[in-house]
Amino acid sequence: MNTSHDRFDLIIRGGTIYDGSGGEPVSADIGVTGDRITALGDLTEAAAADEIDASGMAVAPGFIDVHSHDDFHVLSSPDVEHNVYQGITTVVVGNCGFGAAPYDAAAERQGELYALPPEVKPWVGYGGYLDTVDRVKPSLNVAALVGHNTLRVDAMGDIQQVPPSIDQVTHMAGWVAEGMEAGAVGFSTGLIYEPGRYSETDEIAAVATVAGGYGGVYATHMRNEAERLVQAVEEAIAIGQTSGCSVQISHHKASGSDNWGAVERSLEIIEAARERGLDVTADQYPYTSGSTRLVAVLQNGALTEGTGGIGRVQAKDVLLATSPGRPEYEGRSLASFVDDWDLPAEDAAQRIIDEAGEHVYVVIFMMDEGDVRRVLAHPTTMIGTDGIPRGSKPHPRAWGTYPRILGKYVRDEGVISLQDAVRKMSGMPADKFQLAGRGYIREGAFADLVVFDPATVIDTATYEDPKTPPTGMPHVIVNGVPVVRDGRHTQARVGRALRRGRE
Ligand code: CU
Ligand code: ZN
Repeated sequence: MNTSHDRFDLIIRGGTIYDGSGGEPVSADIGVTGDRITALGDLTEAAAADEIDASGMAVAPGFIDVHSHDDFHVLSSPDVEHNVYQGITTVVVGNCGFGAAPYDAAAERQGELYALPPEVKPWVGYGGYLDTVDRVKPSLNVAALVGHNTLRVDAMGDIQQVPPSIDQVTHMAGWVAEGMEAGAVGFSTGLIYEPGRYSETDEIAAVATVAGGYGGVYATHMRNEAERLVQAVEEAIAIGQTSGCSVQISHHKASGSDNWGAVERSLEIIEAARERGLDVTADQYPYTSGSTRLVAVLQNGALTEGTGGIGRVQAKDVLLATSPGRPEYEGRSLASFVDDWDLPAEDAAQRIIDEAGEHVYVVIFMMDEGDVRRVLAHPTTMIGTDGIPRGSKPHPRAWGTYPRILGKYVRDEGVISLQDAVRKMSGMPADKFQLAGRGYIREGAFADLVVFDPATVIDTATYEDPKTPPTGMPHVIVNGVPVVRDGRHTQARVGRALRRGRE
C-alpha cells in the first residue's frame, strides 16, 4: 500500500488509464519507481522527482510491435525514432524468416541496408545478438524470433532448391535450440522468399518442433496470401499442431483484387482452430498497401500470371520505396519505367534490380479497405508495423501504424473501441510472446507507457512524405524513463533485450 509520504521517481498525473486488458478505462495517477509502476490511484499528496501532466490524455502500456524487421536497425540507429515516436516500446524482430543469427547469413540479407558500427559486430548466435542489444542499449526493448530463411542459408549454402538433408535439418534445429535457450520468443518463416519458398511443410514442422518444445511461437509469412490464402492458413495451423508452437499469422491479408474478401474465410479457419484448442492469432498493419522486395515480386510472378504468393499486381500499383543503387528512382511507380523504357513490367522490374541492386523494396497497393477493417475488428488480430525504414520513400507504416489505428480506425471510423485497440497493441502481444512484466498497466509491471490525446492523435506519414512522426502522442516512457517528452526524442537509451518469460 502506498501512502501520501511516498516519493516516486516519476508521477503521470490525471490521465485516463487503458490498462492493456481491454477493460473499461479508469482515471488514475501512475507512480513510477526505477523501471516499475509502483502505484496506481490518487497520488495527489505524493511527490516525485519528475512529473508528467496527462490530464485530458489517455495513458496506455507502451506498444509492442509484434512484426518488426528492425533487427539491425536497433543497433545501427539505436534511437529508433520511427518506432518510439509512434508509441512503440518493444519490438519483436526476426519476422518473415529473417533473423539476426547466424551473423553471416543474417548480414547477407540485412547488412547492406543497415550498416553497423564496427564495434558491435559480429555476434555469435541469438544469445550473442541479445547480448549485443543489451550492450548497445537502443531506446526501446527488443525480443527476437529465430528466422528460418537465415538458418536455411547457413545450413544449405548455395544449393537451396531441394529439400535439406537430415544433417541440414539438424543444423537448423540446433540454431533454434540455441536461440530458444538464449530467450528467443519463437521461430519465424517467410515462405514467399528465398530460400524458404523451397521448403515443404515437413521441413518447417521438424525445425519448428524445437521451438514448440520451449513453448515458442511459430510466426509465418505464409506461402500464399492470394488465391491460396486458405490453404496457406491451413498449412500454418498444421505446423502449429505438429510442432507444439502457438501460431501467429503475419500481416493477415488477402492480396490481389481477385482475392479480396477471402479474409472472411481465413478468419473462420482461425476461429475453428481456436475452438479445437489451438492458440492461433494474427497481426496486421492498417494500410491497403504492402511492401516487399522487388525480387520477391518477380519470383512470385505477380506482374504476369499472378498465381504466386502475392497474387496479380499492376505496374501502376507498385511504387519504388528503397532503391540503394539508384536513390533517384524512389517514389516513382513501376508503370513510369514501363513507359520510359518501353518494356513489359517484368523486364522493367528486372532492369531496376540490375541497376539498383538486390535490395530494392517496393510499396504495392494490393488490399481491400473492407478486408483491412474486417481483419482489424477481429478479436484474433494484434498490431505490428512490418516497417522497413530505409531509403527516402519507405512504406509509411514504419512511422504511422499505431497513431493511424488510434486516429482513423478508432476515433474517426469507429471500427474498434479504444480499449480494444490498446489491447491489440499491448496486453495481447505481451501474452502471446511471453514478454513477462510487459503489456499491462498494473502495480509491479515495467513502466513502459505511452501518453496520447485520443481526440487528436493521428499519423502524418504519407506515401509522398513517409518519414514523419505522429501528432497527439507527446510522451513515451521505456523502463521508467521518458524517451519521447513533449513530442521530442530525449536521446535516452534505456531499452533492453527481452528474453522469453523472464523479467
Ligand atoms: Cu515482414
Ligand atoms: Zn512478411
